[in-house]
Amino acid sequence: MIKIAVLVSGSGSNLQALIDANLSGQIVGVISNKPKAFALERAAKAGIATTVIEHKHYPDRETFDAVMHQQLLDWDVDLVILAGFMRILSAKFVQAWEGKMVNIHPSLLPYYKGMHTHQRVLNTGDVLHGCTVHYVTAELDAGQALTQGVLTVDLHDNVQSLAARVHVLEHLIYPQAVEWICNGTIQHLENGQVLYKGQALKQPIQFCQL
Ligand code: GRF
Repeated sequence: MIKIAVLVSGSGSNLQALIDANLSGQIVGVISNKPKAFALERAAKAGIATTVIEHKHYPDRETFDAVMHQQLLDWDVDLVILAGFMRILSAKFVQAWEGKMVNIHPSLLPYYKGMHTHQRVLNTGDVLHGCTVHYVTAELDAGQALTQGVLTVDLHDNVQSLAARVHVLEHLIYPQAVEWICNGTIQHLENGQVLYKGQALKQPIQFCQL
């Protein structure tokens, strides 16, 4: 069984969706860089080990990441899931977990990498918006996309309503992508190629609520 660690900083609604999904992998631990993250309470309630590693207690990013890395090794983790983890990871850490670390981003990547995605979608007047589960690589929000949730932006949408609607999609597509990794439907090969059901994955699998 695949052993999973989830990295969080905040509310942890995606962590909750992963817990509720009864994955065929096992969530063995949750790491938070924020001691007050509600995600820690969700994990404890589900009987999952938690660790707080506060970045402010370490002199630099590399040292902080090295402590996280050691915790992941101690838990014998196969897959790292970023779920609202609000820290940029060092190149060394990303390299160590390449092909074994995924993230969810609130936009239809490759559009709107980085922050404030909902506001930027509204500013541009896009009709389609959503979220993307992707492998994590050294370049921000640029790793291979696995699944996407797509919605249409309504005339009356604002940042809050879009965030809420995208969250609903996140809770659908993240557990699905992770389950596919756990059961081998999605495979990341050593050469970096990603397979879905044994075939090269050219486009993310899309779930639409149009
Ligand atoms: C989500 O919007 C996700 O897209 C982003 O961080 C947020 C985490 O929310 N990466 P939650 O803590 O899972 O509720």
